[in-house]
Amino acid sequence: VSAGGPDQARPFQELVRRRFSLRRYDAGRPVAREDLEAILEAARLAPSAENSQPWRFLVVTDPGVRARLAEACFTGIFLPTRFAAAAPVIIAICAERAKPILRAGEAILRTALYQLDCGIAGEHAALAAAELGLGSCWIGWFNKRGARKVLGIPGHVEVLALLSVGYPAAEAGHREKPRRSLAAITHRDRWGTPFVSPPAGAGGSPAAEEDTRRS
Ligand SMILES: Cc1cc2nc3c(=O)[nH]c(=O)nc-3n(C[C@H](O)[C@H](O)[C@H](O)COP(=O)(O)O)c2cc1C
Repeated sequence: VSAGGPDQARPFQELVRRRFSLRRYDAGRPVAREDLEAILEAARLAPSAENSQPWRFLVVTDPGVRARLAEACFTGIFLPTRFAAAAPVIIAICAERAKPILRAGEAILRTALYQLDCGIAGEHAALAAAELGLGSCWIGWFNKRGARKVLGIPGHVEVLALLSVGYPAAEAGHREKPRRSLAAITHRDRWGTPFVSPPAGAGGSPAAEEDTRRS
């Protein structure tokens, strides 16, 4: 694993390193239509259980709709998400669960596979945005009922998350990724057997790693 600097030999690793949750947008700089299409195309090509492709993307660019969305979604207890109101694009990541056989499987597995599918597709979109020099932020904390109402999303379609997209504001700086170490999140062959040795000085204390989860 590279120590931190740009990794030109492995552009994907470099892209993953570069993507971060952007919360300060250049509200005056729109995103080109072809860039939005590239972002959505990356999402479209994501894998999904049984190739069910449950994702639906509602792309909001109209300033009036964005303002109404912000009013409906980022107020009250959802005020911390207000930063997203400045993003020139908000993509509502929705799901349409079609196949009854998959629903039965999900009940047996107790795993919402369709949510995994939409998460994968959404992250494809986020990475595609990063490749284009755009920033993005996953948003789970918003008023879903408000979003449904403003965007006219029908009852059989689930609203899972929003992805704000836009160019960074001039003052938006890049941050290091606070993350748990590889040793803290991996096992080899059997739960409890380390996959890698803990980094020197990590101490192995779960509390020390706890602080690094959210930025
Ligand atoms: C499913 C999901 C929901 C999230 N919801 C929010 C949110 O509502 N508000 C927010 O500011 N960040 C949200 N985030 C961003 C995370 O806080 C962020 O990914 C994490 O702190 C790691 O930072 P990084 O993305 O800059 O690497 C969300 C991320 C994910 C994956």
